[in-house]
Amino acid sequence: MTISMPRGTQDILPSSSDKWQYIESTLHNLLRQYRYQEIRTPIFESTALFVRGVGDTTDIVQKEMYTFQDKGGRSITLRPEGTAGTIRSYIEHKLYADVTQPQKLYYMGPMFRYERKQKGRYRQFNQFGVEVIGVQNPQVDAEVIALAVQTFKTFGLNNIKVLVNTLGEASERQKYNEDLKAYFRPHIHEFCSDCQARLEKNPMRILDCKVDANHPLMKTVPSLHDYLSPESQAYFDQVINYLDMLEIPYEIDPKLVRGLDYYTHTAFEIVLDNPQIELKTLCGGGRYNGLVEMLGGPQQTGIGFGLGVERLLLALEDENISLPIASPLDVYIVTLGERANHYAVKLLNDLRIAGYSAEKDYFDKKMKAQMKIASRYNAQYTIIIGDEELSQGSVQIKNMLNFEQQQIEITNIEQFLKQQLKEK
Ligand code: HAM
Repeated sequence: MTISMPRGTQDILPSSSDKWQYIESTLHNLLRQYRYQEIRTPIFESTALFVRGVGDTTDIVQKEMYTFQDKGGRSITLRPEGTAGTIRSYIEHKLYADVTQPQKLYYMGPMFRYERKQKGRYRQFNQFGVEVIGVQNPQVDAEVIALAVQTFKTFGLNNIKVLVNTLGEASERQKYNEDLKAYFRPHIHEFCSDCQARLEKNPMRILDCKVDANHPLMKTVPSLHDYLSPESQAYFDQVINYLDMLEIPYEIDPKLVRGLDYYTHTAFEIVLDNPQIELKTLCGGGRYNGLVEMLGGPQQTGIGFGLGVERLLLALEDENISLPIASPLDVYIVTLGERANHYAVKLLNDLRIAGYSAEKDYFDKKMKAQMKIASRYNAQYTIIIGDEELSQGSVQIKNMLNFEQQQIEITNIEQFLKQQLKEK
């Protein structure tokens, strides 16, 4: 019996790992421009962190966590998202006392959610996320949204839309939640079972239900914006003004509530602006003003976003955008005869140590087949070694782009390559 990969997971095969490496290294460079520093936190954490941090009425905590007891009897959960672990680490290592403030952090890595598998939704997926902790300033909210937008643009994905909303303070939402319950309660039996379950615990989540989006009650639902204090409204107005200044197009979406409990004030999502694609959310984030305190830290505010790398790759595919990935081989050594083949082992090793990417054949293939493989590997040069030439201390070097071929001394190979491959 063969064993397959678990449902909802993916193997990243050698044919696509160069895309991942390209994305990761591009992100590291981009984040340096914005002065963010990488943080790496454990893949598993105490379950209580997510119950408290993400919120026990959320789908993530109620249905989607990979939770198990370890051999010491502790309840452990594979991280479903990156914010809670980052804040836990920020508190535990007192990053709030560091001289550089605010803390501008980013992370990349696998997250785990037991979700129904569909295109772009996996049980193990990779998130790239950022968190700015220790400052409440609308300039930062705009910077974080601008960074999310720039991330997609860096990869050539321009066909995106920013949806933005404000969720105000938790205290401002209390009255709104009560009014929402009263509004939906008489008709709640007309809504899906998820909405029915959400009514008493988290009625705002009904607003972003995909199943009941067209229910007539959704059109006349009260707006949270009417419940916000003048301060919260003014904060949001400033965020919007900065987005205008940065020339970032956006849509204010009063129904955008996000699926995690920690958000206050600014909330946003970036979606693919392509009506043909169903699962369009590429990135989501927002401000969380009570989270650090709720997890036992000082009164510090934060804002961030998370972006699914698999979704980014799918979006690039859907939009027919290819990444500028080229990994040509500097040299492929083609041999003719036993002595030459033997000698090539040493030359190959010397070239690699000198910093060139180099390869040879290990199957005793005929010369024509070796040349074919050199082309398949995108080799820029082939070094052709024959037994006879070898005894004279020379080899043939062929430029695989213009097919020019010349004889050179073995002792001059490295110098020749150095001249030709200028970047080395
Ligand atoms: P989230 O909206 O739950 O937010 O996830 C962020 C992004 O992760 C989504 O927009 C999506 O691209 C990707 N994602 C989520 N679930 C899956 C899945 N099952 N398969 C593939 N991709 C997925 C958060 O996680 C927050 N921690 C974001 C944040 C950071 N807010 C503030 N700081």
